[in-house]
Amino acid sequence: MTSRRQLLFGAGGLALAGVAGRAWQQGLLGGGNPALAAWDDWSSGRLVGPLKLVGAGVLAASPHNSQPWSFAVGRLGVDIFEVPGRNLGAMDPFGRERLAGLGAAIHNMALASTAAGRAARVRLLPDPGNPAHVARILLGPEGSGPAPHPLLPFIGRRHTHRGPWRGGTLADARMAAVLNFPAFAGVRVALFAAGSAAGQRFAALTSDATAAIVADAAMMADSHRWMRHERRDADRLKDGLTLATAGVSPWLAGLAALLPAPSAASEGDHWLANTRDQQLPTASLFGLILTPTPHDRRSALLVGSAWQRLHLNATAAGLVAQPLNQLPEIIDREAQLRQPPRFARLADALLDDAAWRPSFAFRLGLADTPAPPALRRPVSAVIGHPARMEWEVEQWRAAGGAF
Ligand SMILES: Cc1cc2nc3c(=O)[nH]c(=O)nc-3n(C[C@H](O)[C@H](O)[C@H](O)COP(=O)(O)O)c2cc1C
Repeated sequence: MTSRRQLLFGAGGLALAGVAGRAWQQGLLGGGNPALAAWDDWSSGRLVGPLKLVGAGVLAASPHNSQPWSFAVGRLGVDIFEVPGRNLGAMDPFGRERLAGLGAAIHNMALASTAAGRAARVRLLPDPGNPAHVARILLGPEGSGPAPHPLLPFIGRRHTHRGPWRGGTLADARMAAVLNFPAFAGVRVALFAAGSAAGQRFAALTSDATAAIVADAAMMADSHRWMRHERRDADRLKDGLTLATAGVSPWLAGLAALLPAPSAASEGDHWLANTRDQQLPTASLFGLILTPTPHDRRSALLVGSAWQRLHLNATAAGLVAQPLNQLPEIIDREAQLRQPPRFARLADALLDDAAWRPSFAFRLGLADTPAPPALRRPVSAVIGHPARMEWEVEQWRAAGGAF
């Protein structure tokens, strides 16, 4: 006869198997994930020449991990194209964040050119006839480049950290290390200590902006499209956001994995609580990337490059980072709906010069555990239009172009 103990163990075993099964489905368990192979492709050094640049480009930050890029590779360099279909809809109505993601990829690629040992020239928006052609990186001959950039090892270690952090203040030297980069034309960074009056204003505004987004069903529905709650979707699509990178503890993620996939509305409630009660109160520093012209395509690209660089610097300095873009997102949404610019006016209280507008918002700090890597499409999935690059570069050469 089956004892109660056996029954209990049996039921417990079944429940555990259920948790494990669901956790696997959500990508929380199981090694050798093909949707994470792009990280290893870069770190192993197996990519060579212009493909090395693409390998670094695909590891860049992008809004909701939408990876809005495709690349054309030629012997002499790489063209980078915007893919407007990979969009956030009402969360990014003017495509400003999409361009920031592309700017982030361009910056990673410029750094990676030093690993390829070839001098690089980056031209933004090189083709006035094709605005989706966001950049061309031309490479000089082998051996023409500068020494490998010291940030190269951090390209594969930079991950967005959404968990609770340690809090506390940061030494000035660490803040200076984060801001140590060459100027991006028309872009400035403002930092606020979390405990300062400006830091508290930033936190309150970000919390209010999150609540406003959660109340906007169209924004939440468009955000929900990028959630990957099933392992089979994550494996197939290799993009979007998962429970594994949501910043919840592994045991809570395991428990949540037992439940059916959440609706857009319950994702919103969780996001608001997480932002207000966990992410904002445990940051050391808040920051804004500012530009006078957030919707100018070049400015939006440069804002994204600045974020990528800032996050790489932070990683190298032993800090963790997370974008918190609710404020610029709701400002754009109000503009799209032609509503009074309530949040744009509230943001003025954070700025010393209201002509410089917030285009990217973030937190920085210290954490006890590292953030996990996010899904990525590998190089082979993002290469197209090779003939175009060849043809155009050949033309450039025929016209007497020299490096
Ligand atoms: C323009 C832009 C906006 C972003 N906004 C947010 C945000 O508001 N909150 C957040 O947690 N992550 C945000 N991210 C981070 C992305 O979700 C993240 O880069 C992506 O999921 C890939 O993960 P990884 O950065 O760890 O590689 C943003 C990234 C970019 C480039």
